[in-house]
Amino acid sequence: MIEARLLASNRSAGREILACGNKEKVMETTAESFKGLDLAIFSSGSKVSLEFADMARKQGCVVIDNSSAFRMDPQVPLVIPEINPQELDNHRGIIANPNCSTAVTLMGLYPLHKRFGLKRLITSTYQAVSGAGAAGANALLNEISTDSSNIQNNQDSPFPYPIAFNLIPHIDDFREDGYTKEEIKMRNESRKILDLPKVHVSCTCVRVPVMRAHSISVNAEFESPVNVPDARNAIESFDGAELYDLPSSGSYPMPLDFAEKEACGVGRLRIDHALPNGLAFWVVGDQLWKGAALNAIQIAESLVERKCMEFIS
Ligand SMILES: NC(=O)c1ccc[n+]([C@@H]2O[C@H](COP(=O)([O-])OP(=O)(O)OC[C@H]3O[C@@H](n4cnc5c(N)ncnc54)[C@H](OP(=O)(O)O)[C@@H]3O)[C@@H](O)[C@H]2O)c1
Repeated sequence: MIEARLLASNRSAGREILACGNKEKVMETTAESFKGLDLAIFSSGSKVSLEFADMARKQGCVVIDNSSAFRMDPQVPLVIPEINPQELDNHRGIIANPNCSTAVTLMGLYPLHKRFGLKRLITSTYQAVSGAGAAGANALLNEISTDSSNIQNNQDSPFPYPIAFNLIPHIDDFREDGYTKEEIKMRNESRKILDLPKVHVSCTCVRVPVMRAHSISVNAEFESPVNVPDARNAIESFDGAELYDLPSSGSYPMPLDFAEKEACGVGRLRIDHALPNGLAFWVVGDQLWKGAALNAIQIAESLVERKCMEFIS
């Protein structure tokens, strides 16, 4: 029998949601929620993942976790199926989904790394408000509907300052070295996914008043000499990335074009004259899809395929 359970906190218990054509009731998550389930996708923040993931795993349910709770755990694979699906063979019941900006960045960077060998990575992110959850999206909607000369930070906003008509170079907490935790996620998770534990990475993360889809400006240094035609070719041949790069006609990827799109868009591809063997590009992707839900579903599909192959052979 195929059964889907929609779980949330007690705030949402009893709500009805249309899922796979059926009206399903949302239930409160408890220790009993995972009994009999093969697979659970967690997307409720690290605290909830730390509370329930191990309980689910011990009941035989494989957990795909969207939070940062387990991403850097050496026992937990951190997977983008187009990049490192082989890691799924080594899971022990929990698989981590990467940080949203990291996932989108690597969808543009990985084909170039395969072709030229990544040596150094510098990124600046332009992160949509929905990256901070439903509360982030609501904050922007509320602020843009008020008088622009009098925008106040609402107490329900997850942002430290007004986001409408503004940019906030601060996502997640600051560390002693001046970087934010979000910026360090880009460094550590890129290293883990690309299996380049020592690659140099520096990142600046910025929240922008865009509803959906993150954009990242990337400057990368490579081991081998680079050229734009080969770089374009590498991106065009990579599943999940779409080259959207016609400078003569002003064509480049933008969040409005890539919201609710499975592929990530890569454009503004050019030689970076400030770095040896350097390339600069711009990548955009729906952080709710490729940065979270879609990647989780692709992991689940890949797990099912692997089980089927095991069964056949
Ligand atoms: N937003 C993104 O772009 C994005 C991208 C990648 C990864 N993530 C990660 O995904 C996770 C969720 O983020 P979000 O943006 O979806 O946040 P969100 O909009 O605030 O949603 C949080 C969800 O967690 C549920 N929840 C809260 N407490 C719970 C509990 N005790 N037990 C079970 N469910 C509980 C909430 O249910 P109620 O409505 O009942 O409270 C809600 O459905 C975070 O770890 C985030 O880092 C988000």
